Amino acid sequence: MALQDIDPVLVMERLCFATPWSREAFIGEVRDNECAHYLVGETAGRVVAYGGFWRVLDEGHITNVAVHPDYQGLGYGKILLDALLRRAAELGVVSATLEVRESNFRAIRLYEKFGFEPAGRRKGYYADNGEDAIIMWQRDLENIP
Ligand SMILES: CC(C)(COP(=O)(O)OP(=O)(O)OC[C@H]1O[C@@H](n2cnc3c(N)ncnc32)[C@H](O)[C@@H]1OP(=O)(O)O)[C@@H](O)C(=O)NCCC(=O)NCCS
Repeated sequence: MALQDIDPVLVMERLCFATPWSREAFIGEVRDNECAHYLVGETAGRVVAYGGFWRVLDEGHITNVAVHPDYQGLGYGKILLDALLRRAAELGVVSATLEVRESNFRAIRLYEKFGFEPAGRRKGYYADNGEDAIIMWQRDLENIP
């Protein structure tokens, strides 16, 4: 992700999430945060997916994963997550974690396909509706399914 990708990323962020990140948040991640790594996925010259993680020692903390609603269910999420995890592994990351809404079955299924397993719950984590977050970990990035 480069600064010029942030406009289409913000469109997707607002379409996909109840509490979207601001432009300033993405600028900070892309320009200033040395532990942050963000990728975008393009098709036919259009940015249709994005995601990122923070590398913290040998852990990857996935911050967001999203595919434009017009392109969901077509395999882009799998391509994106695969690319994120491989980039993390190249950087020496051995395990990855994320939080996901407990009602977000589609995302949970995607993460399970890549070896993520539920490891805990954050009660009332999501401010918009008080939903719990499921904490998931993938502890063997050398062997991404
Ligand atoms: C979750 C998300 C990233 C998945 O991306 P996608 O491009 O739609 O997913 P893919 O087409 O690559 O499918 C990946 C897997 O997700 C699951 N999946 C996809 N569509 C699904 C559906 N309608 N119902 C249930 N599972 C589904 C399947 O396990 C699928 O793998 P399979 O096709 O081998 O069965 C995307 O739907 C999205 O951006 N959602 C809104 C934002 C979001 O919730 N992000 C995650 C926050 S933690």
